[in-house]
Amino acid sequence: MPDITALGLKKGQLYESIICTRNADGTPNAAPMGLIVKNTSEVVFYFYPGSHTASNVKRDPLFTVNILEDPLTFVECTLGCPPHSSFQEDGNLFYLKSADAYFTARVTAHKTGPRKDRFGSTELTIIQARVEKTVKLAECVHPLNRAIYGIIEALVNLTRMEMADQETRQIYIKRMSEISRLVNRVGGLGDKEALKRIQQKYDDYQ
Ligand SMILES: Cc1cc2nc3c(=O)[nH]c(=O)nc-3n(C[C@H](O)[C@H](O)[C@H](O)COP(=O)(O)O)c2cc1C
Repeated sequence: MPDITALGLKKGQLYESIICTRNADGTPNAAPMGLIVKNTSEVVFYFYPGSHTASNVKRDPLFTVNILEDPLTFVECTLGCPPHSSFQEDGNLFYLKSADAYFTARVTAHKTGPRKDRFGSTELTIIQARVEKTVKLAECVHPLNRAIYGIIEALVNLTRMEMADQETRQIYIKRMSEISRLVNRVGGLGDKEALKRIQQKYDDYQ
């Protein structure tokens, strides 16, 4: 049985990954997507309307989920699609050469429907997929979770509070509430506890 926790992915957590799929014309597609770990071999994705990834996996249900930290790859895959030379083939599938690890997953269920979020109501496609194979390419694999960046940012701003003027403090406090929203959405228990302790210190400046 494949086990994605061997790649550092933890059950119940949300990570940022890059999904590689095959377009109808056979060319590769790569797009950053949030990845929710249901258990050791099941994952869930939420696709926004118009996503090529969503239509590709509905047509061709086997795809790769790439785990990496390389910032340029994330940028390239968000602003467009990287060149063919950035991909490697694994049978019929594509994965990214810059990946630290990848796993193959097969769609087991999908549904599309409206979902209320802070932008209003959005037609989301929810994809459930079963992991078929895990491949570790780098010695050290570190799946991306956004919570740590928010926590570090909040901490750095906290250490600047004493030096900051009133206007800057208000900016930091506003950022803290945005960070709090993010960490409570994507973070694990440890992240939430860390944030709670930082929040108590920010409260002294309210
Ligand atoms: C870190 C990151 C995470 C993202 N997560 C998602 C996601 O979970 N679902 C989604 O539909 N779009 C997500 N996006 C936006 C898509 O990557 C972006 O719209 C992309 O152009 C879609 O490409 P596609 O049309 O090839 O699927 C994310 C973008 C970034 C940078």
